[in-house]
Amino acid sequence: MADGFTLTPELDAQVAQAAALLRQARSRVALTGAGLSVESGIPPFRGPGGLWTKYGEPPMDGYQRFLRDPAKAWRERLEPTESWARGLRETLGAARPNPGHEALAELERQGLLECVITQNIDDLHRQAGSRALLEIHGNHRWLRCIECHRRFEPEALAVDPERLPPLCPACGGWVKGDTVQFGEPIPPDVLRRCMDAVAAADCMLLVGTSGTVYPAAEFPVEVLRGGGRLIEVNPYASELSELASVSLRGPAGAVLQRLLHHVSTSAESGRAA
Ligand code: APR
Repeated sequence: MADGFTLTPELDAQVAQAAALLRQARSRVALTGAGLSVESGIPPFRGPGGLWTKYGEPPMDGYQRFLRDPAKAWRERLEPTESWARGLRETLGAARPNPGHEALAELERQGLLECVITQNIDDLHRQAGSRALLEIHGNHRWLRCIECHRRFEPEALAVDPERLPPLCPACGGWVKGDTVQFGEPIPPDVLRRCMDAVAAADCMLLVGTSGTVYPAAEFPVEVLRGGGRLIEVNPYASELSELASVSLRGPAGAVLQRLLHHVSTSAESGRAA
């Protein structure tokens, strides 16, 4: 159980309520953010201990800088010069999924979660076994062609430091890291699939997101417009708290494991009945 966190009877009753909502729903999507990976040692962006809080927001024209000088951007990717970028790369490399990621993967396995849309680039949902996964801001380990949007798994494309940027073997376009930079459009194929999943959803689980960055921040509103319900998991109030039917104030790891417990036990008692 995360430090200082206690599952009070009141919170446990709320988690049971959220479990009932999840079970009654027809199509459930989870929208996750940096808060989910805090217990894996990756700082959030905003709020207490946030990266941007500490170092200030990065320049909003990261993508335009890539387009102006892709070789320079690649040299920075291969050998980061900025201390925070080096620190983040080490932290991402060492991070492992936590009980929150594992609970979401298990909900999917039990057929109680149709899809995870993550704003995180940390690859931890994939490592936890989530399969119906949409990485709307990309994955720090993957590469992507900026022309045909083809994605390349780690090590699938040889990168020659003498010939940068690497070119797409399919269309000859420039290849960059898959992480979506500030100023870069979300790859249209991923965005389309996110919007389809959101349009079909009647229940959205909001985990560890401040709900401040678009287009992802629009998705909960779309679910509400469609008559759906929102369940929030966040130790602190966020922009989305007032919109949620149930807002669970606790760390993602412990709360999602408790949610999994409730949905599984109510399933068993349902079967026993
Ligand atoms: N469990 C659950 N939620 C937590 C935890 C925890 N242990 N710790 C912190 N949080 C919550 C915070 O209260 C905050 O509301 O996680 C949220 C993190 O918010 P942000 O740092 O703004 O992260 P996110 O919403 O993912 O940011 C969206 O902004 O900078 C860009 O591209 C970046 O994907 C990112 C996007």
